[in-house]
Amino acid sequence: MARAPAETAPLFQPSPALNDALLDWYAERARPLPWRGEGLSLYRTWVSEVMCQQTRVDTVIPYFERWMRAFPTVEHLANAPLDDVLAHWSGLGYYSRARNLHAGAAVVVAAGGFPTTLAGWRALPGVGEYIAGAVGSIALGLDSPAVDGNLERVLSRVHRHPGGRPAITALAQRLLPPGRAGDWNQALMDLGASLCAPRAARCGECPIRAHCGAGQLGEADRWPAAKERKVAPERAAVGALVRDGDRILFGQRLPEGLFGGLFELPGLLLPKGAATDEAALRGALQLGLMEALGVDAHIGGAVGQVAHVLTHMRLQLVIFEVQLSGEPAAQPGGAYQGLRWLGRAERGGVGLSTLASKALALADAAPSSQGSLF
Ligand code: ADE
Repeated sequence: MARAPAETAPLFQPSPALNDALLDWYAERARPLPWRGEGLSLYRTWVSEVMCQQTRVDTVIPYFERWMRAFPTVEHLANAPLDDVLAHWSGLGYYSRARNLHAGAAVVVAAGGFPTTLAGWRALPGVGEYIAGAVGSIALGLDSPAVDGNLERVLSRVHRHPGGRPAITALAQRLLPPGRAGDWNQALMDLGASLCAPRAARCGECPIRAHCGAGQLGEADRWPAAKERKVAPERAAVGALVRDGDRILFGQRLPEGLFGGLFELPGLLLPKGAATDEAALRGALQLGLMEALGVDAHIGGAVGQVAHVLTHMRLQLVIFEVQLSGEPAAQPGGAYQGLRWLGRAERGGVGLSTLASKALALADAAPSSQGSLF
């Protein structure tokens, strides 16, 4: 029979012993991140938390440092053109985060300073419970939980609770040590990113093992309860590689929606369930280019195909070499707010999604003659 854990935290009750062990560990082992210690400010905390919300810390660090060189204060960010802001986000994904930071910076500057309450933070564009809780606890010293995937996993294991963001957030609010929430949240983030990993947790090295229900019973891998995984549906997209000497034609997407404001090879996402044989793709591209660019297009050979996974779909993008019958112009009601011919050196200055970069890598590798994918 399973032995009842001897010293674990009383279920769902604050444990001063656990919190002390955790905070001692953090005092010694905190990761030296550029938004901690000397690098701490409200602005830097906000930006780092938004960047980290859907992206791994290791990936975020170089983006964060480039961002702070380009936009060192909230005023610099508010005054920067959105295109420049998106260019600094290129490759991080979930681009609405960059648009919301830019819009939020304008709100903060207009208000004469950052909010000082959780409700004030939550009123900023794109700021939900997690970001408000993280900024509130880390940079304002408020007693707010900040439950990301790491906190959810660690607390689920400590309390052998099946998990779920709202329930664990309510639990964290009860457990956190008043006055130390910023360090407590970040200690749990670091623990979840290192020892208390989703698989193969290293319980033997854990500073709070003695207080952890799952750790005591050797069942870390059973918590939190497994979520049902939904496989995102596959969708087809087509894109045009239009050359003019060394330059390539790009469309800048409308400000809102998927990849809003970013540049890409002109093309379109096919409707759900649309036919995806070669003739169907060619027909869809020709019609789509007419609608978006206002010119007839000759669809040449297929250059190649790229796969890209988003949260809500798995994209298969086929790129065709295309000749246009005249000078293209972004059409009212079409997919693009503007068009640009860009040489290789100019591409670093515009916002490109990872998908667009993958398509460009194909274009750069392709000879300007036609290939035969089909
Ligand atoms: N992930 C998100 N925010 C973080 C932070 N402040 N410290 C460590 N990991 C994080």
